[in-house]
Order: sequence, then C-alpha cells, then structure tokens
Amino acid sequence: MMKTLPAVLLISAASFLAPATLLSAQPSPARCNVSTKDFRLSGGNVTYAFGVNACGELQQVYWGGRLADNDKLPPARRNREMASFDTPYTTTPQEYAGWGEGLFVEPALKITFADGNRDLVLHYDSSTEKPNGLDVVLKDITKQIYVTLHYSIDPQTGILARSATIENRESDPVTIEQAAAAAWALPHGNYTLNYLTGRWAGEYNLTQEPLQHGARVIESRRGSTGHQANPWFAIQSGSPDENSGEVWFGALGWSGSWRIVVEQDQLDAVRITGGFNPFDFGYVLKPGEKLETPTFYGGYSAHGLGGASRLLHSFENHNILPRTAKTAGQPTPKPRPVIYNSWEATEFRVTEGGQIALAEKAAALGIDRFVMDDGWFGQRKTDNAGLGDWYVNKEKFPNGLKPLIDKVHSLGMDFGLWVEPEMVNPDSDLYRAHPDWVLNFPGRPRTEARQQLVLNLARTDVRDYVYGFLDKLLNENDIAFLKWDYNRNWSEPGWDQLPPAEQKKVYVAFTQNLYGILAELRKRHPNVEIESCSGGGGRVDLGILRYTDEVWPSDNTDPFDRLTIQDGFSYAYTPQVMMAWVTDSPHWLNKRTTSLSYRMLSSMQGSLGIGADISKWTADDGALAKRLIKAYHEVQPTIVQGDLYRLISPRNGSEFSATQTVNHEKSQSVVFAFVHSTQEGRGFPVLKLKGLDPAAQYTLTAIEGKANPREPTTATGAYWMNHGLELDDNFRGDFQASAFRLDRK
Ligand code: DGJ
Repeated sequence: MMKTLPAVLLISAASFLAPATLLSAQPSPARCNVSTKDFRLSGGNVTYAFGVNACGELQQVYWGGRLADNDKLPPARRNREMASFDTPYTTTPQEYAGWGEGLFVEPALKITFADGNRDLVLHYDSSTEKPNGLDVVLKDITKQIYVTLHYSIDPQTGILARSATIENRESDPVTIEQAAAAAWALPHGNYTLNYLTGRWAGEYNLTQEPLQHGARVIESRRGSTGHQANPWFAIQSGSPDENSGEVWFGALGWSGSWRIVVEQDQLDAVRITGGFNPFDFGYVLKPGEKLETPTFYGGYSAHGLGGASRLLHSFENHNILPRTAKTAGQPTPKPRPVIYNSWEATEFRVTEGGQIALAEKAAALGIDRFVMDDGWFGQRKTDNAGLGDWYVNKEKFPNGLKPLIDKVHSLGMDFGLWVEPEMVNPDSDLYRAHPDWVLNFPGRPRTEARQQLVLNLARTDVRDYVYGFLDKLLNENDIAFLKWDYNRNWSEPGWDQLPPAEQKKVYVAFTQNLYGILAELRKRHPNVEIESCSGGGGRVDLGILRYTDEVWPSDNTDPFDRLTIQDGFSYAYTPQVMMAWVTDSPHWLNKRTTSLSYRMLSSMQGSLGIGADISKWTADDGALAKRLIKAYHEVQPTIVQGDLYRLISPRNGSEFSATQTVNHEKSQSVVFAFVHSTQEGRGFPVLKLKGLDPAAQYTLTAIEGKANPREPTTATGAYWMNHGLELDDNFRGDFQASAFRLDRK
C-alpha cells in the first residue's frame, strides 16, 4: 500500500504487525518475521530512505541523489551472516543501534541498567509524521527504554536534521554511557575523508585522507567545541574534487564535548556516528526522565566539495542563524555590520578618551559598529584579574559607559561590548565570594589557564548570576552587540552539589544552560546580536550558531595565514558568520609585512572588520580603507550569502589562491585573487569563473588591481567561465591581492 505524503516526504508502508505483541512474545532476533516498513524523505536533490527490516531493526536503505517518488527501493533487509564473526546485528547499517546482541561497531546508545544488565537492543515501535519529516520510536526488546528518533529534511538543500530523545520508563534509574545524535551509513566504496583540525591561531586546516579500515575519531573532550577539531566531516567518493563527484557531509550542533567516529568496517561498509563524547560521560536517567541529544545535520551533493559547502552555507543562512526583531521573518539574516574592534589597538588599556578617539577615526572610515573589547570592567588591567566582576571600571570610565556609547551613536555607529561570562579570575570579588562556583574536584588543585577558572554554568545559581549580569548590562546600556568570549578549556570537571553518580551530567547541563541563557537574552533583547569567540575559533558549530550571529574564526589576523584559515572554515561555515579583521603590519604573530590593500582584500572575503590601531594610520591608509569599505558594502551580500567557489586553494604551499562568489540571482559575482609569492616568473593562472548565467552579459569592474588590458570589459557568462578572466601580467611579487566584480547588464 502506498500513501502519498506532502512534497518532501513519502512513506510507503507494507502491512505491519504490532511490534509490541510480536516482540514481547519473541525477543530473540533469530525469529525475524516482522513485516517490513519503509520511510523516505526527499528534499532538494536528495533522497534518504530507511526502513524496518524483518527483525524489527531500523536500518538505512539509501542516501544519495533524489529518486522519483514512484521509484521503488528494495525493502530494508538485514545483512546475512557472513561468518560467525560478522553477525547481522553488527553488519546491518542500523539507524540507531543499541549496544547489545554483540555489536562491534560504534553504538548509538549504550546503557547500564540498575541491575547491572548492559544489553540494549532497539527495535521499531511506532512512527509519527511531521512537517518535512517524522519521528520514529524505537524500544528495547524487553526493557522500557524508548528512543524517539527525530528526522526532518530541508526542502531546498536536502539537508537532514537528526536527533534522538531517550526516555527511561523503567522503575529504576539507568545510566547512559554513550548517546549519539545519529548514525549515517554509506555504501561500500573508496572514499576520501575530509575534516578540520587546528590549534589556537591555526584553526580550520582541511585534512584529507583516504578512508581506511578502522575508525577515525574526530572529537573534543574539552567541554567546548575546541580549536583542535571541528564537528564537521565530508566524505567524497574517490579523490577530493571541488567541482564534481559525490560527497556526503555532516555537522554536529553541539558546543560541549563531542565525538564523531568514521568507521570503515571489515566488510568495507562505512558508518559515521556522532553525538555527546562518551569519554567521562555518564548521564543518569531517573524513571520518567528524558535526555535530548544534539542535532546531527547531514547532506549530500553530486557536485564535489564545493557543492557540499554551498548547500551547507545556504542551509545555515536560511535555517540555522538567528534573526533579530528587525530581521524576523526574513529568509536570511542581514549582512553583518562592518565593525571596528579595539583589541589589537589597545588590549586592556581601554579608557573613555582613548576609545572615543578611536571611534572618531573609525566613523570617518565608514564603519557601522564600534566594539570595545576586553578591559572595561572590574579591576581588569591585565588578564590576571577582574573576570567575573561585571561592573564598569571607574578609573577608566568615571561616568560609566554612557558617554562613550552616546559618542559612538552620535558618530553614526552602533556599540558593541566584549564579555567572557563563563569565566572567573581567582583575583576577583566574585571568586572571593563564591569559590565553590567553579568546576572543581573538592580537595584537588584547581588548574588555571590564562589565570582563569571555569564557572560551573550547570549550576542554577551560576546560570542565574550569568544571565542576571548580562540582562542588567543590556538593560542599562544601549548595546547592539556582545562579543562573547571563552578563553580556556575545562579541567577538573567536578560538580559536587550532585550525588556522585550524577555529577557527570555537567557535560550536558553546562551547554544546555549556555544555550538557555543565549536564548533568553535574545528573547528579552531581540535586537542584540552576539558573536561566538573562544580565543579565536574554539567555539564554532551549528549548536552555537542557532544563538549567535557571527563567529571569530581565529586570533591569528595575519592576512596570509587567514587565507588558509578562511579556506578551511568555508568548507563548514558560511562567510556570513566569518568575521575577519584588518590589523597592523608587521603582524604581531608572524612579523610579516603586508600592504593595507592586501590585508583589506584578505578580510573582505568574509564579514569585514577593522582591528588595527587606526590612530596611527596615515591619511592615505584612511583613504584606501574608506574606498574599500565602500566598495565592500556595495557587494557584501554577494560575498557573504552568495554561492562560494574556491577557484584556487591556498593550501599545500600554493603560489596563488582565488575565490569567487555569485549571488542567487546570478546578477553579480565577486572575485578575489592572491599571489602568495611568485616563483620562476609564473604569471597568475587564468581564472575560469563559475556559476554565471552563460547567456547573460557581465561587465567586469576592478575593485582593486587590474585585469589583463586585453580582456573585454563586457562579455557573456560563457566567456568568463570558458575563456576565463586573465589578470594583469604584473600581478606578481609577494603578498599581492586583486578583487573584481562582475555585474549583469
Ligand atoms: C581572545 C579573543 O579571541 C580576542 O579577540 C580578544 O577578545 C581577547 N580574547 C581579549 O581578552
């Protein structure tokens, strides 16, 4: 029997015997005579199909290019036993396998029951349709453990959102030792795994390696997302290719400790399981309680890694990023204001007079938002003291923040402020009053990093304090934007207010409370925007991006290093959220000298900011920045929300790099080109542009630099894509940059 459901959802169901009757009578999987049932989700160019096999297990059937609604897929069928060592329970690509019955691959869920039993076998129980998706309930074969799997598919991009709710209906508590958001499966094949690794000041390195037998673990055990790995993966069939080939990709929306395991098993099947990091995990679920997992998003593209990131960018802009009251109901958020940030200019030496002087300079450049960074509060003179004391420092701001904020407004900008709400310096009034508020194991040393400790945000009193001071700050001051920083990872993650068995809940409750505070602040202050920063790009993921409008990808603002950081970042995240500042030269980290024009163009590939000491800029510097900020404003929506094509990668010691973005109407395109260091006299490669309308005429205008004078000013999209754009022959040397726009006539 076939039932037609709304556009993107088609469920075909064979007759199904009520599982409760069947399974309670026959818990043994050896008797597999349940009628099968199929589910199918289609959206964009993607179909995802799964079903209940004859043993009652929910298994993936298909994930790939979109099928016709009347294309029949074979029903879910358990793999046969290849050998006594390769039993079907472990080789069948289950949607959410419990650890039991001899499962040797990564389990989605592992539970210890009150009596010590640790066997968990989840079978299909029921399902409910939802707009663009469905909920499927699984139940253990004998115990009252229910798992609701949530599925939805985005009709535009075909990106799926999957998560699980685990419920204990037993009469005793159980301990969840491992809980994934979802498990994905790929057909047998040869694949390349792409993932992002890094460190402080070196985030978002794209790592590409052939997928091998065994497991590749990408994770953070740090209590937050981390600089060292980012919860994103892309698996390409065959070798990596920007423009063609099948790619399956995913991103986990969780800002606490997380783990993604990519396995190729002994029979070559591939499985990707991701969710809470099981390391040091233990979540006690009392009778009647539930645990919600994070959401694991997954997508498919037939157009290489470039196609995959374009889908993800569009999905993030349309479905993940928050709106303010001013942009409520709009399909995408507005492009970010061009900001000035004082950090690299003044560090902790902020004063009313100094900030006003910088604000006057910033306004003259055409800046939209002035942001005062660290140093304005408590007894904050260095990073030794003051975190936690969120009152305005009277020596630096004798009349509070109002005179500065008023001045910033009178200059035509709005005002933003730095905070680091989850941290405390031991040298602070807060810590002296509440030494028990930090993560710690009683009687053990409290490890400091940057002279700070982590407040235990899982505690209700700490959560209330953090929410309270932020709410007050926003009530008392006209603040448009918070830069929310987080400058260390966890140590000694104790929570001794809870009974010992429950203390590990900190891994979940901390992040849930963080999201709760952000959500409540946004509700109470619906025009305030927020940046997620963690000593650079240590807290960027699709969880935090539900509550924050932009992120700080790295403390490394060297414009050359940024090309690689931004390139890696763009595989997972939209340029809309990629804040990029222009800072001083020689750069503080690498001591590299670069021109202002090069620095500007490197930053203009994302959401532009200026972070230099502009009080030292010459009139020529000011004029150049002003001209380029104006040019940027004109094309910013195309750059940050258009389709991004990485034309030449800056990775692997490349001499050149180039990116191109095209807006969705195909009426405008922006090209950035960078020479890193010319060698052996090589000229810049001809740039074969992408994504234009072949029949339309486009006029080329230089934003900075020159095209080859032989190039026509106006030509068809076909010309720019097939013949390509030739740059000026003198576009050579070290750290050179050019930018162009093409506008449809
Ligand atoms: C780390 C951030 O990434 C920097 O931009 C700056 O805000 C400092 N913290 C301030 O302490």
